[in-house]
Amino acid sequence: MGLHDRLNRQGGYSNGHGPELDVLVGGQPDAPERRPADPYAELKGRIHHACIAKLGPQLYAAGQSEQSNEDLAEKVLRVVTEQLALDRTPLTREERRQVTREITDDILGYGPLEPLLRDDSVTEVMVNNYDRVFVERNGKIEVAEATFVDNAHLLRIIDKIVSQVGRRIDEASPMVDARLPDGSRVNAIIPPLSLTGPLLTIRKFSKRRLTMEEIEDNILTFIGAGHETTARALGWTLYLLAKAPWERDAIEAEIDEFMGQASIPPPHKWLDALPLTRAAFEEAMRLYPPAPSINREPIEDDQYMDLKLPKGAAVLVMPWTVHRHRLYWDNPDAFIPSRFHPENRDKLDRFQYLPFGAGPRVCIGATFALQEAIIALATLLHRYRFDPAGDYKPWPVQKLTTQPDGGLPMNITPRRGRG
Ligand code: HEM
Repeated sequence: MGLHDRLNRQGGYSNGHGPELDVLVGGQPDAPERRPADPYAELKGRIHHACIAKLGPQLYAAGQSEQSNEDLAEKVLRVVTEQLALDRTPLTREERRQVTREITDDILGYGPLEPLLRDDSVTEVMVNNYDRVFVERNGKIEVAEATFVDNAHLLRIIDKIVSQVGRRIDEASPMVDARLPDGSRVNAIIPPLSLTGPLLTIRKFSKRRLTMEEIEDNILTFIGAGHETTARALGWTLYLLAKAPWERDAIEAEIDEFMGQASIPPPHKWLDALPLTRAAFEEAMRLYPPAPSINREPIEDDQYMDLKLPKGAAVLVMPWTVHRHRLYWDNPDAFIPSRFHPENRDKLDRFQYLPFGAGPRVCIGATFALQEAIIALATLLHRYRFDPAGDYKPWPVQKLTTQPDGGLPMNITPRRGRG
């Protein structure tokens, strides 16, 4: 069933006059008005209504083929121009152009989003409410001028976007994550899942292709960022457990019980099933963060509270320091995995524990890293026991990652014949 039929069958989004009228003459906004009402809302409603009367359900054929799109665009433009000529509302030439563009964008495209989607400098569009639209340009978020008439209007455009990629969104299925035909990623959430009204994000697919050099750089970043960090954290975890046999005993017991089940869940479920093992790994990353400093260079003079940040300065955010700060942690230099037990985890401030960074450049492999680390730890600790080799005390040095100078010598023995 098409959008037109579906919405008409539902009696529109708000008052049963049909979705188009609801949208363009205002309908029942789901959120309080936060901006002056559109002075041309009624005019646009009348003209939109005339388009429906003259062109019927084929109005919603947009997107089916290039040919039908062009035909439809021509027809819509003709009806809009005719109706504007008949209407008595006084309009300047610019206003006439604006109203025509808004109506055609609304019928043929994605309404107020169209200019943003056409604008190549916009890389992401985020709609947090009908009157709060943000865009990303050059990595920075800006408020966009575009707004919808109300949440019903926004909902109709969301419905249009998702139904054009063969998906549907409604109360029973209030979230859609899909790709648009041009590769852009769209994510929409509506009530009851969203508590504030419809939400929409479109991550635009770059028209610029990556060069071979950039592809190589990306692959190297993935290997560099993903391999050594996790390997270092695993090494430090095994070492710390070896030095704290009472913690190691509890974790071995957790792992043995899990591995002893008649049917062991698939590896992607291990992370949730082994909270003590996870806590030990997280605590090891607190004491020895694989990325001990996160570096930035201001591209222009900037200021954070009283701190002046001149262009080109070396700015270091130091997880190493934050993770051992006496104001944030009790007994900060001790290995105490219970800080990360499920009942304590939520008490931590988001910014006191930063092994994966934070903000827009937060590690994209964080969940993957946790999964693979817990799988590796469970497999190793189930089979082998790791004990300190003598009284050796490793000295951490910061290269790219936190590395133990001289390695982490340990004695490894099979546990109860499992190895
Ligand atoms: C324990 C393991 C890991 C740790 C501690 C870690 C830590 C970090 C940190 C702190 C950052 C932010 C750097 C910054 O803000 O400048 C980062 C970024 C990144 N990480 Fe990880 N990482 C780990 C595992 C992984 C894995 C397994 C992958 C890939 C599969 C990965 C891929 C990346 C990428 C691609 C970035 C750059 C993201 C961006 O700049 O937008 N990391 N990582």
